[in-house]
Amino acid sequence: MTHVLPLELDRRYPVIVKGEGVWVEDAAGRRYLDAMSGGSMAATLGHGRRDIVAAARAQAEKLAYVHNDRLTNPAQERLAQELTERAPDGFTRVRFVTGGAEANEMAIQLARRYHVDRGESQRWQVISPAQAYHGPTMATLALTGRPGLQRPFEPYLPRHPHIPPSTWRFDPTGQQALDALDRALEAAGPQTISAYFCEPVSAAALPAYTPPARFWQGLDERRARHGFLIVFDEIVTGMGRTGHWFATQSLPVVPDLIAIAKGLGAGYAPIGAVLSRQHVYDAIATGSRKFTLGHTWDGAPLSCAVGLAVIDVLRTEGWVDHVRERGPRLRAQLAEALQGIRMVKEVRGHGYLIGVEYVDPRDGTSFLPPDLRTAGRIDAVAFERGLVTLSTMPTRDGFAGDQTLFAPAFTSSESELSEMVARFAGVVRQVANEVDARLAVPAS
Ligand SMILES: Cc1ncc(COP(=O)(O)O)c(C=O)c1O
Repeated sequence: MTHVLPLELDRRYPVIVKGEGVWVEDAAGRRYLDAMSGGSMAATLGHGRRDIVAAARAQAEKLAYVHNDRLTNPAQERLAQELTERAPDGFTRVRFVTGGAEANEMAIQLARRYHVDRGESQRWQVISPAQAYHGPTMATLALTGRPGLQRPFEPYLPRHPHIPPSTWRFDPTGQQALDALDRALEAAGPQTISAYFCEPVSAAALPAYTPPARFWQGLDERRARHGFLIVFDEIVTGMGRTGHWFATQSLPVVPDLIAIAKGLGAGYAPIGAVLSRQHVYDAIATGSRKFTLGHTWDGAPLSCAVGLAVIDVLRTEGWVDHVRERGPRLRAQLAEALQGIRMVKEVRGHGYLIGVEYVDPRDGTSFLPPDLRTAGRIDAVAFERGLVTLSTMPTRDGFAGDQTLFAPAFTSSESELSEMVARFAGVVRQVANEVDARLAVPAS
């Protein structure tokens, strides 16, 4: 009997009692290989890091908490400095929060503050790709164009324009997304647009997908022409996941604000942040000179000390370079292991953020029939085989079908990566055979 109100009431939740590296163990002593960095891509450095725990403990013993409304602390000050040193040129200020959705909300508020302080208070709308996930709060939920997620909460959600993703299915060149962006700007009135908001490389919503360079260049031009800001949700990609400290460092566009979270605490503390370029700060500095909204745990010494310890490990052990160098081979290993499986359409990858996209094996392009529940079956079979994965089936939103995210900890050893790939390929083959049988696909 549990008193927890879970996310899915029909799901049986295994009780995980400990973790070491990329292994977690349940209450019955069964061990699972964690190919998903703690399930959410947060635990980028694996479980059970004594050095990070020691840093947290040392800080807690000295000073665990003060509120940054009236006080600051050395851990917050140093972490802000460390982040700006690793961010693209021109990012000079950091505002801390306690998680991903909070960071995205703070970015929406900072963008709005920027425009209001510059005397453009008509700018509030945010344009974003429809197939996205930016968090479960009302403001962040409004930034996704997915009826499947929004429906029950619609009365609370402001209406923002969305554009379709430029995937192979809808727009392989990126031009249609630019046309859709132009239409959205025109329909809303470009002078009402506060920001374009997106992940530079998608995580759960469209695993490891990024639009073509043409889209980014066109977006940059439109920002210059129309005066909106570009905000990158780097909740997943920030802090090394794609082989760069920030995924923007691999793209031909520099945003005005970057929101980060998961990899900053690496699963050891709830912490997020918004990094701001100087001109956004300047607008506030020469305008209202204050920002009254904040959370109780923003910039707290304990969580900032964890952030500092995480950066220290990433830097001294060279994990960001490692992910950049090893990532393409991991993607290739997965693609090779999944070769010949007709429902596997594409294996995409950026660093240790890898996505596998499934299609109907009968024609090689359509979404799989939703009643097969292929994504759910992949995760269930993976779990039976001792592997933690994350698959999704946002089919009813219209832009993506069944897909799996594969995002191991940066610290996974060679043999652990090989074992994850082998187990995963076994899972996909088993489920693909079940799908073929259900759909009466003739053996090739
Ligand atoms: C891309 C992206 N943005 C925002 C969030 C929300 O972060 P949090 O769950 O920390 O609020 C998530 C969480 O999965 C995410 O993947």
